[in-house]
Amino acid sequence: MMSSISIRQAVGSDLYALVSLDALSNPHPWGESLVLDALKTRKNWVIERVEKVSGQSPESLLGWLTASQWGDQSELELIVVSLDARRQGLAKKLMTEWLANIKHEGVSEFLLEVRESNVGAISLYESLNFELVGRRKNYYQTEQGHEAACLFTLKM
Ligand SMILES: CC(C)(COP(=O)(O)OP(=O)(O)OC[C@H]1O[C@@H](n2cnc3c(N)ncnc32)[C@H](O)[C@@H]1OP(=O)(O)O)[C@@H](O)C(=O)NCCC(=O)NCCS
Repeated sequence: MMSSISIRQAVGSDLYALVSLDALSNPHPWGESLVLDALKTRKNWVIERVEKVSGQSPESLLGWLTASQWGDQSELELIVVSLDARRQGLAKKLMTEWLANIKHEGVSEFLLEVRESNVGAISLYESLNFELVGRRKNYYQTEQGHEAACLFTLKM
């Protein structure tokens, strides 16, 4: 059956698909209450595969991006892509959607922070021209102790 990839803003009924995506594919899962809070208070985009024949969306989502916005700044809070759908450009599509949409709302500075060990995410951000602007030591907990947070920004 023919299918295509589609991106849309998340809606309340995505909650359980997002909780499931978070539980299965986020190495540091947020859990239901934080996912619910993100749906209520932030900007959220999801990516999914839509069957061309039926026009129906599957119940599972392939990816999710959630971001906050204050005035002319927007901060990425989480981006996660399903383990079995990685390295197909889905995260890049979600990031591009976030940047383009929020820019229309007058945002000119995009912010994010990421674990120093998360080299995959860091190369994704660098591929979109985010620049490293700071480093917070011992910011995140790890099984062995702590690791730094890297702060990135993009001005558009
Ligand atoms: C980070 C994450 C969202 C990337 O999703 P993805 O859909 O696989 O990323 P894309 O396919 O769009 O990658 C685009 C580019 O980013 C870079 N990239 C992405 N994942 C990478 C990896 N594991 N290693 C090296 N580079 C990577 C590459 O440059 C890639 O382009 P290429 O495949 O042509 O080389 C995904 O690995 C994930 O969900 N990780 C767990 C959650 C997480 O750590 N989120 C980030 C912190 S909030």
